[in-house]
Amino acid sequence: MQDITILGIESSCDDTSAAVIRNGYLLSNVTASQQVHEEYGGVVPELASRAHQQNILPTVDAAIKRAGVKISDISAVACTLGPGLMGSLLVGVSFAKGLCVSLGCPLISVNHLQGHILAHFIQEEGKERSVPEFPFLCLLVSGGNSQIVRVNSYKDMEIIGKTIDDAAGETIDKCSKFMGLGYPGGPIIDRLARQGNAKAFSFNKPHIQGFDYSFSGLKTSFLYYLRDRMSENPDFIEQNKADLAASLERTVVEVLIDKLSKAVKATGIRRVAVAGGVSANTALRQAFVARHQSRTWQTFIPPFGYTTDNAAMIAMAGYFKYQDGDFCPLDKPAFSRIAI
Ligand code: KG4
Repeated sequence: MQDITILGIESSCDDTSAAVIRNGYLLSNVTASQQVHEEYGGVVPELASRAHQQNILPTVDAAIKRAGVKISDISAVACTLGPGLMGSLLVGVSFAKGLCVSLGCPLISVNHLQGHILAHFIQEEGKERSVPEFPFLCLLVSGGNSQIVRVNSYKDMEIIGKTIDDAAGETIDKCSKFMGLGYPGGPIIDRLARQGNAKAFSFNKPHIQGFDYSFSGLKTSFLYYLRDRMSENPDFIEQNKADLAASLERTVVEVLIDKLSKAVKATGIRRVAVAGGVSANTALRQAFVARHQSRTWQTFIPPFGYTTDNAAMIAMAGYFKYQDGDFCPLDKPAFSRIAI
């Protein structure tokens, strides 16, 4: 059997990443993150695309070298076509297309959100993991998305619930910004929460029909609560930051898990995975582990390296598409918003 070697490229937001997967096994995964956004408290699109331009060549070069493959070994280049920031996507997509022309190999387009889900199928030599059987449910939670996806196969995925306003990660990031903590807020809130009392404060939870989420009410309730307490005591945040972080984190996790439980009951599908940046969160991972231990669900939690944006997941999705001969015309443009 001939080797299938896929170079994956991810540039949808503020991480430039390149990875090589051979026959479903990861050989390298290199990511250049961008610190330039920290002082603005969020990603600045123009700065992101400029940083991608600087990072793309050394990142791809490092991924190929670390994988120990020759560039001529590459069977196809898979890249994120969307959704994401247009200026950021264009850098990765243009680079991938140029490489395909020079190597004479096919281009594979990958939906970033499907990539997050297919990260569950990445294997590493000597660290083989069990993978979810189809169909399974996946809670996809990142800075821009909060969705419950029914995954019927590698290519057949159906969103059965989604946020009607803010995403879970975005909510945590905004609350963290309001508390004067750094960016991105997710990892900072997570660290602080480990030292706090999760029952110290209560915030509004949404009452939305079906499997959809809403986080804007929680965000507003958190901000108004802080504003009111700060008017009485200007040091309120400083004195209570660990308890605030733990209580916010508990509320977000409860909202996510409650809807997911409802979806499990309604579909009868007990295989449940989690993906996306927020899946790095300690309390969310603990909630999944607890359900696995009580045999309520069979859960699948990705290794930390595949939670935030990375090219390994793009290369993995590309590997499946390669086997189906599902290639992308070179004149297909990037899209900032596409469904799963
Ligand atoms: O998937 P991702 O890297 O980028 C996209 O949004 O596509 O997700 C980034 C999000 C940010 O909101 C970040 O704060 C959040 O994931 N995040 C976390 C943690 N690590 C990253 N949220 C909670 N706890 C964490 N440990």
